[in-house]
Amino acid sequence: MLVLGIETSCDETAAAVVGDDRRIRSNVVLSQIDEHRPYGGVVPEIAARSHLDHIGGLVTRALEEAGIGYGDLDGVAATAGPGLIGGVMVGLMTGKAIALVRKLPFVAVNHMEAHALTPRLTDGIEFPYLALLVSGGHCMLLAVRAPGDYRRYGTTVDDAVGEAFDKTAKMLGLGYPGGPALEQAARAGNPERFDLPRPMLGRDGCDFSFSGLKTAVRQTLDRLPEPPDAPTTNDMAASFQQAVAEVLADRTRHAIARFRREFPAGQTLVVAGGVAANETLRRALEKTAEASGLSFVAPPLALCTDNAAMVAWAGIERLRIGLSDGLDAPARPRWPLDERAAGPRG
Ligand code: KG4
Ligand code: ZN
Repeated sequence: MLVLGIETSCDETAAAVVGDDRRIRSNVVLSQIDEHRPYGGVVPEIAARSHLDHIGGLVTRALEEAGIGYGDLDGVAATAGPGLIGGVMVGLMTGKAIALVRKLPFVAVNHMEAHALTPRLTDGIEFPYLALLVSGGHCMLLAVRAPGDYRRYGTTVDDAVGEAFDKTAKMLGLGYPGGPALEQAARAGNPERFDLPRPMLGRDGCDFSFSGLKTAVRQTLDRLPEPPDAPTTNDMAASFQQAVAEVLADRTRHAIARFRREFPAGQTLVVAGGVAANETLRRALEKTAEASGLSFVAPPLALCTDNAAMVAWAGIERLRIGLSDGLDAPARPRWPLDERAAGPRG
């Protein structure tokens, strides 16, 4: 089975061809970072127009690089949400049009489900597993039982963790996108220098909170006698990153305890989403998994950040068990992942 995947929910335009043998035949990603940089963040209207300009060419390239034509496809999968609605519509309509013309089954993919299922593509791991999804828009802990079958253990009550990285980086004048820049600065910094709060640490449950941490960075910077020099910036970046690592590890420990009770057969902690690119966080989570006897899986960097191979794979997972969607499937700016567990898809 060969499936074409399309991703346009944020600031990456992407198309990929993946087989049900887990081989990625092509995976083309076009980042819009340069277009959004002057504004210090993703501008939805610019994103939508840029997706529209590029999606056709990228689909053609994905097929070319895979060495196949439309006639070789067995299905089409496109991200239908959650994300920026203008961009989502561009990819969704493109996928539906291809499916209609080529008479192929169509899957409307939940972007977070695509992140959550990626370790099955990259590492072939078995259900059930515990997943920590950390990106610019999300921070959640989920038990993954099957495609479309999730139990949410915890989520953020305010900012997503990537958002906290991006905003903190902005305060520190580290530019955009903030996550990678902040990690780079932190490499040269002292994580003990600033005593920042660890929101939610030790609390019951598995929820996260990051806005207090962001505010503490702001207040600490305001109290400094002068604008921060490079060493101070690096120390703040390292202190922030360390606080996030401790909080993520603590929340994940709680989730592991619950996962162990509910799914004794589960053996794996997975971390996915753009923030999973961060080395310090990965190490902290790997240690947490090992201490609880779970194995740890984080997809390779290029499959952690937004891409279409994960969307094609989510399509394969659903098609394999007989699930597909009508061409009336809506674009959904908000789309909670565990909703389907409770009832049919809306
Ligand atoms: O999954 P993703 O590519 O896009 C979505 O949000 O869906 O994640 C992007 C987020 C951004 O907030 C970015 O700053 C963050 O992931 N990020 C990082 C790193 N690389 C990307 N955060 C911390 N450290 C990194 N190395
Ligand atoms: Zn994402």
